[in-house]
Amino acid sequence: METQQKTEIYSPGLEGVIACKTRICQIDGQAGKLYYAGYPIEDLVHHSTFEEVSFLLWQQRLPRQDELEQLDKMFKETRSLPAEVLQFLELMPHTSHPMDALRTVASLLACFDTNLEKSPEANLQRAIFLTARFPTIVANFHRLRQNQKPIQPHPDLGLAANFLYMLLGKEPTADQARVMDAALILHADHEMNASTFAALVTASTLSDIYSAVASGIGALKGPLHGGANEAVLKMLLEIADPANVESYVEQALVKKTKIMGFGHRIYKSYDPRARIFKEYARRLSGRTKFSRFFKINEKLEEVMQAKKGQHGIFPNVDLYSGIVYHQLGIPADLFTPIFAIARVAGWTAHILEYWRDNRLFRPNALYEGPPPRPYVPIEQRR
Ligand code: ACO
Repeated sequence: METQQKTEIYSPGLEGVIACKTRICQIDGQAGKLYYAGYPIEDLVHHSTFEEVSFLLWQQRLPRQDELEQLDKMFKETRSLPAEVLQFLELMPHTSHPMDALRTVASLLACFDTNLEKSPEANLQRAIFLTARFPTIVANFHRLRQNQKPIQPHPDLGLAANFLYMLLGKEPTADQARVMDAALILHADHEMNASTFAALVTASTLSDIYSAVASGIGALKGPLHGGANEAVLKMLLEIADPANVESYVEQALVKKTKIMGFGHRIYKSYDPRARIFKEYARRLSGRTKFSRFFKINEKLEEVMQAKKGQHGIFPNVDLYSGIVYHQLGIPADLFTPIFAIARVAGWTAHILEYWRDNRLFRPNALYEGPPPRPYVPIEQRR
């Protein structure tokens, strides 16, 4: 029998490994550039909406006017939650982290999907339903945990504005709605990040889209990934004053603690999303009492540039996003769920794309344990 020689590469954290092909998203980490299906993120943020970007990720082309209207209609028609799901949300401990609530309810939605069809078209419908419903889950859970009645979706508002309306109980200004829409566009996709990979690993077993998305939410929650935006705000509260930044960073680096909102596996330059968020944060901070946070962040940038810039550690998307959300009146434990509200479009786009040419993800492990040895009966063990 012929033995096949395999080249085995060990790459901790799968750094540098290409896990799949994609037409959805491209990152140039050295130049600090991000493109969704070829369109620069800056153009999409300034000229597009989250609805349009969702279409782009799913179809890899921008929609025509009639297609966008149709998608918008579907989003609006499907964003209410089934009554049983609302009851379930009500029963969840109010102390639950909203990411736990979102992950659980995303999973629960599978139980209400009676369609046995597994075609690409049926799965695209599910992607649209999930993207439509994530803002409602997060907003309704937030109201319920404060013993307030959930607010039904507003029939006339787009996805971002409606989220703020359901969450905060009043219609946002055009400026607030625009900032939230931009935040969702910035978070909608990011190539083979940890949560998208987690979603694809589950999808690759030919499990269902709900399980894959629930895997993505679980991976996103961690502070090395999406959870960093919440961690940044905690860090800013701890630092409290720009004058404390230098000593905070020095102590953290001595203790080998990471500075949240800095560093990235792919970007070895300024994350382009951070640059855009910084401008929103600057604009909003100028008018409010939150400018202290902005000043702390600017000082953090200066100190980190001097200490870690030569190692390719720069601000990432999470450094300024929390300040922006905070200024919109959103509590810190909802920052990562907002990330998920946007990223579900990207997760589902990658799942649908991967299923077109599916192959099970099944890497190897480098075994470092004892060599094969005889079994020891329990009475002979010491
Ligand atoms: N603060 C201080 N040092 C850092 C930081 C940081 N934020 N990030 C990386 N480093 C250092 C590490 O200590 C390590 O140094 P060493 O070689 O002397 O041990 C070196 O840079 C490499 O770090 P790794 O963690 O191995 O690099 P990796 O590519 O795995 O890290 C990561 C990427 C996890 C994002 C990291 O930069 C980090 O933990 N950042 C803070 C958390 C954060 O902001 N996460 C959000 C990322 S963006 C997103 O997911 C949406």
